[in-house]
Amino acid sequence: MAMTEPLVITDKNQMRQWSRSMRAQGKTIGLVPTMGYLHEGHLSLVREAHQRTHVIVVSIYVNPGQFAPTEDLSTYPSDFSGDIKKLNSVPGGVHVVFHPHNLYDYGAGKEERIEKEKEKKGDGDVSCLDNSGLGHETWIKVHNLEKGMCGKSRPIFFRGVATVVAKLFNIVEPDIAFFGKKDYQQWRIIQRMVRDLDFGIEVVGSEIVRDADGLALSSRNVYLSPELRTQALSINQSLYQAKRLAENGEANSIKLRDSVVHSIEEAGGKIDYVEVVDQENLEAVEETIVRPVVFCIAAWFGKVRLIDNMEMISV
Ligand code: PAF
Repeated sequence: MAMTEPLVITDKNQMRQWSRSMRAQGKTIGLVPTMGYLHEGHLSLVREAHQRTHVIVVSIYVNPGQFAPTEDLSTYPSDFSGDIKKLNSVPGGVHVVFHPHNLYDYGAGKEERIEKEKEKKGDGDVSCLDNSGLGHETWIKVHNLEKGMCGKSRPIFFRGVATVVAKLFNIVEPDIAFFGKKDYQQWRIIQRMVRDLDFGIEVVGSEIVRDADGLALSSRNVYLSPELRTQALSINQSLYQAKRLAENGEANSIKLRDSVVHSIEEAGGKIDYVEVVDQENLEAVEETIVRPVVFCIAAWFGKVRLIDNMEMISV
């Protein structure tokens, strides 16, 4: 279906109706969930969706459920009109941009709660209600996969991701959903959730898209000064170096891990974690590598936390 401007839908019932009408016409639906501020990595997911499904929905929703109170939701970068332009630049565009205001607003009793909140605060500012969940009390936890790596420093993050993705699946009812492998742990968690809860949706993991200098694309890269960006290249360079070492016969995961840690610290980065983990269950592999592993990194460059990873299928 050729098209130019996507239909922007903000209401979840309208979204569901649209999907159901497409399915009634025999069309398969692809979903690319995003938090906006799109980059080439997201667009590559849209291109992949074009290969696999008839119609494509991109959701743009900054999910309050995955931000801790200490993490500032309001400063998350956004550029809705820029996002639409980028989506239009992909051959075939996308059919729908689902852009809900608040997926945790269930309507009933809202006015009363707003009045109460106004009384309590006295300043009429009810913006906190957008983030508070408005009585939402159901969360999905993928117990083991969410424990390690990013889950250690961001304890509520994956609970929030799994829950909002489940909500999006229930609203959009896609056949296939597309995620970037840059967020490796997130991708595996969603796959596990879909399997365990029988969603009947295929979860595709797409390869990491890198800039010409090798840095994995991320909405956070805009916060890097030129100097920090140069430092940050140590992430991808050290991963490629580890891969080369492994290909040349180094199978000791501790040695490979140490080489990565050393390169990043030498460049000025502060390590959150560097782990060699099993690709399926994400358990640390702290011995000779004999099965498919993935090197996962999170490191700080100034105030910017970046993640990256590299799969090593056989060593
Ligand atoms: O990867 C992201 O942008 C988000 O975590 C997601 C999957 C859209 C859920 O909010």
